[in-house]
Amino acid sequence: MLKIAVLGCGRIGVMHAANVNAHPHAELAGVFDINSVAAENCGSAHGVRVFKSADEVFASPDVDAVLIATATSTHSDYIEAAVRAEKPVLCEKPIDLDLKRVELCKSRIGDTSLPIMLGFVRRFDPGHRAARQAFLDGEIGNLHQVVITSRDPGMAPDAYIEASGGIFRDMTIHDFDLARFMLGEEIETVSATGSRLVDPALMEKCNDYDTVVAVLVTKSGRQAVITNSREAAYGYDQRVELFGSKGMVVSENRRMNHVTKHVKDATNVSAPLLNFFIERYAEAFNAEIGHFVDVVENGALLEVGFEDGRLALILAEAAFKSIAEGRAVRIAEIARS
Ligand SMILES: NC(=O)c1ccc[n+]([C@@H]2O[C@H](COP(=O)([O-])OP(=O)(O)OC[C@H]3O[C@@H](n4cnc5c(N)ncnc54)[C@H](O)[C@@H]3O)[C@@H](O)[C@H]2O)c1
Repeated sequence: MLKIAVLGCGRIGVMHAANVNAHPHAELAGVFDINSVAAENCGSAHGVRVFKSADEVFASPDVDAVLIATATSTHSDYIEAAVRAEKPVLCEKPIDLDLKRVELCKSRIGDTSLPIMLGFVRRFDPGHRAARQAFLDGEIGNLHQVVITSRDPGMAPDAYIEASGGIFRDMTIHDFDLARFMLGEEIETVSATGSRLVDPALMEKCNDYDTVVAVLVTKSGRQAVITNSREAAYGYDQRVELFGSKGMVVSENRRMNHVTKHVKDATNVSAPLLNFFIERYAEAFNAEIGHFVDVVENGALLEVGFEDGRLALILAEAAFKSIAEGRAVRIAEIARS
């Protein structure tokens, strides 16, 4: 049994704690949150230890590995502390909102052989994985285009948006990683456009966008198009399409059930989409924990690590630069600066 402590008992930490506890080869070693009420609630829900500090977690011989689900600004510090304590890490995205802090973290952890997994959960969605596998198995021939649609069901609270670091670092970062996962080649250029259509005043205030498109191109010319909106009236819209020389494969939205109704004044009517990420990606979040356990316990090859987190943030920086300068931005420009 891999004994995993969860740092951060907010929206996603509580879910991870339950998933860790439910995994047949993992157990929840305890939890910590600077909000002691949140920590107590989560700890008592599972009957596990509530640590008094992060240092106590990292020093504990009863903790084999840590899952970092705290506020983004703490991730780099906690990754570094985990590496010093020689505890494998599963860290939520993004590593940090500031690329310089990510580079510093990279230099501080050096070439550690400890698994440092990034929580890019969409890689573990059964539909998205099956689509990629169809491409890898040659079913759609040579890959030409990846089309990723990711729209949230509604605007997050103002305070969340204000602290988010902007849509590309906060939201599109998942899609940047998914595009890299699907394309099978590194991206060379990013072109992006952004609009303020959902909440123009808030977006203006934050110098952010609520409606964006990014076009990514690899060396061989493969393209990925990412379409994001902070608000889709019909729910959480999550689709991925791979188009190749021999065909196309689509990972579709998930619904509350898969009944379709055909009645007098409507045909092909189906249930609403699963509302948000915890429901839509429930299987993927479980599979993510499963992969982490497999890596740490069985030495499986880590599928998504620190470098993936760094590269996704570089794509986010390139997208902001593309809008600011009205041109396609080469990734090498960001990596150099
Ligand atoms: N993979 C995904 O789909 C996904 C979805 C949502 C959030 N996230 C990421 O997960 C992280 C947490 O997001 P959330 O929505 O759960 O936020 P949240 O605000 O609900 O929870 C964060 C928790 O961290 C705690 N915290 C803050 N600083 C701390 C510290 N120094 N030590 C210990 N605890 C601390 C807060 O008290 C809070 O309880 C963020 O980095 C976010 O980007 C990922």
